[in-house]
Amino acid sequence: MRHIEFHNREKETKEIRDILDAEPSLITFAYGPINSGKTELINNLIKNLPDNQKVFYINLRGRFISNYDEFVRVLFDVEHEARYERIKEFLKPMVNVLPESYSGIPIPKDLFLKLFKENEVEDAFVYIETVLRAFYKNDQNPVLVIDELQVIGDLKVDGLLIYKLFNFFVRLTKELHLAHVFVITSDSLFLEQVYTEAMLQGRSRYLLVDDFDHDTTMSFLENYGFSEEEKELAWHYCGGKPVYLVELTKVEDVEKMVAKMLKIRISQIGELLNSLRAYGEEIEFRGGLHEVVYDDVVRELSKLKENVCHAYEYITPEISYLVRNNIIFVDPLENTMKAQSRMDLLAIREVIADA
Ligand SMILES: Nc1ncnc2c1ncn2[C@@H]1O[C@H](COP(=O)(O)OP(=O)(O)OP(=O)(O)O)[C@@H](O)[C@H]1O
Ligand SMILES: [Mg+2]
Repeated sequence: MRHIEFHNREKETKEIRDILDAEPSLITFAYGPINSGKTELINNLIKNLPDNQKVFYINLRGRFISNYDEFVRVLFDVEHEARYERIKEFLKPMVNVLPESYSGIPIPKDLFLKLFKENEVEDAFVYIETVLRAFYKNDQNPVLVIDELQVIGDLKVDGLLIYKLFNFFVRLTKELHLAHVFVITSDSLFLEQVYTEAMLQGRSRYLLVDDFDHDTTMSFLENYGFSEEEKELAWHYCGGKPVYLVELTKVEDVEKMVAKMLKIRISQIGELLNSLRAYGEEIEFRGGLHEVVYDDVVRELSKLKENVCHAYEYITPEISYLVRNNIIFVDPLENTMKAQSRMDLLAIREVIADA
């Protein structure tokens, strides 16, 4: 099978490198449409950091977290036996302050969890801070990366956990200048909340990781031997969505593949709108249940008939519905909305034509 090399992200890589070269003072939120390559970018960067710069990468994607105990388990990766090593590594700097018997002995999971008593989030935070201090060497600040933080968006542990985390992140960056903190999310509604959060004003910065631009897409396809015609087809249907481009490298007939991909997307979006029209839907929005109005959904989508991008005044239940269904991406910094991908845009236009 053909191996896909990490492809050029010079601009974003440089931005992150500049952040890492300076003293930590702000929390960095990296955001972008789904499948734009956020995780890939940060992982590639981590791989290329100097050995003495310690990185803790925690991905909450697909983890079922409904209480504090589960959160701690995920935070310290207690579940993965194979990666249990990481806990031991976490614990190494603690050896001096732990009883003699801990030294060199793997800590049983239950005992480990007992270190952080139920509901005492601060215990875990104090512990992480201690570990980060131990890894702060020769001016190399450790790096803490949390991917898909929105997973714990509404988890309550004596108040919303997310606020405690943000407070903790502010402490690690602005107050202690101890560690670089990166939060990655593809949930643009979550980012919209973060962006308007008073507590984070002046304490955070935002980094958009969007799909590849035209030149980057062309050079990617060039590497995999696409003809000029295939390159144009790929760009027309897939834009710079890395995950789609990777798919295209695996097929013989690019034209057939893009047509198939579009057909599937049209049918999915069509199905969603039909279901909304037929049965209606209520979604949670700003703390209450709101009806999603079919005509308003169609009106929002119609704004993308001629333009790729559209300014919105404020998020409505209908915009929220389209974002949650991964059709629309909103950029709260620019107050704009656009399709999640070029493929989505083409599918939207097709579906709207019949709506
Ligand atoms: N720079 C790149 N070079 C090569 N392939 C890439 C690159 N970026 C992304 N990809 C491909 O696209 C896929 C999706 O990327 P990734 O998972 O990083 O996206 P994401 O933005 O984190 O997605 P999500 O929104 O689901 O979190 C990767 O598995 C990889 O195959
Ligand atoms: Mg990701």
